[in-house]
Amino acid sequence: MEVKKIFVVGAGFMGAGIAQVGAQAGYEMHLYDIAPAAVEKGIAGINKLLTKKVDKGSMTQEALDEAMALIKPSTSLDDAADVDLVIEAVYENADLKRDIFGKLDAICKPECIMATNTSSIPITSLAVAVKDQSRFIGMHFFSPVPVMRLCELIRAIKTSDETIAVVAEVAQKMGKTTVVAKDVPGFIVNRINSALRCEAYKCLLEGVASIEDIDTAMKLGANLPMGPFELADFVGLDVNYNVLSQLYAGYKNPHFAPSLILEKLVTAGDLGRKTGKGWYDYTSGEKKPRTDIKF
Ligand SMILES: NC(=O)c1ccc[n+]([C@@H]2O[C@H](COP(=O)([O-])OP(=O)(O)OC[C@H]3O[C@@H](n4cnc5c(N)ncnc54)[C@H](O)[C@@H]3O)[C@@H](O)[C@H]2O)c1
Repeated sequence: MEVKKIFVVGAGFMGAGIAQVGAQAGYEMHLYDIAPAAVEKGIAGINKLLTKKVDKGSMTQEALDEAMALIKPSTSLDDAADVDLVIEAVYENADLKRDIFGKLDAICKPECIMATNTSSIPITSLAVAVKDQSRFIGMHFFSPVPVMRLCELIRAIKTSDETIAVVAEVAQKMGKTTVVAKDVPGFIVNRINSALRCEAYKCLLEGVASIEDIDTAMKLGANLPMGPFELADFVGLDVNYNVLSQLYAGYKNPHFAPSLILEKLVTAGDLGRKTGKGWYDYTSGEKKPRTDIKF
């Protein structure tokens, strides 16, 4: 099966990124959101990012025009009637996602493949929303989508080999390296990264070292581009908390239990870079150790 038209559901941070890399790969990308303003914002954001590339000389104006012409705004699920692949990127809510897939299943052609970009919901628990679960798959991009090179493909219990092969080709054309994972909590990256982050939180709570020293140690000693606390602030402590909660529930392993200090920071609204404070303080415009609380 050859994919030509793709319908992206949710024009937020991830959906817009997926529409961008899809259009750059030559696919006709339909970008849908329940909020028309989100579609406009998403497309304007893509145009801005590509314009920067043209200004820097890494892209021609002609390539920008071609990519932008392939992005079709949509405010109706009915526009998915003749697409070959759906990629869903709405809020991380299983009921919402199942509801959307159920509606799309009645609209899309029978051979259309359904993919979800969920970071933590079991793929099989979403696949039940469609009649033919062999065409359902997890397609987990990383943020920011145009920059991050990986796409994890997640095999739900009934996903067919053909579905995996078709979606792998699409992701690779979008410039991503693909890996295939079973449908387990956290898949590959979030599972292993979370285990590392939990160990970092334990080191902090045991007084092994400061936040800054743990980050420095892991950057220089383990060759990570960001320390575990810096990365948690970048991703968002709320996201981190939710992923850990899912892993804890999924594996029933206390190792993944979100630490109390993480829970308190989230409750206090200190979610990392996006709120100005997390494990570090960014309110001055630079990353500084926090002086207002003792860890
Ligand atoms: N942000 C990340 O780093 C990241 C990384 C990998 C995967 N994900 C996953 O991608 C998905 C989207 O995350 P995001 O960060 O782009 O979220 P976001 O909040 O930026 O965007 C979500 C979009 O979904 C839209 N939406 C809500 N209900 C809808 C509906 N009924 N129909 C159509 N659109 C609807 C919203 O209007 C919004 O524009 C989530 O499942 C998330 O777990 C996020």
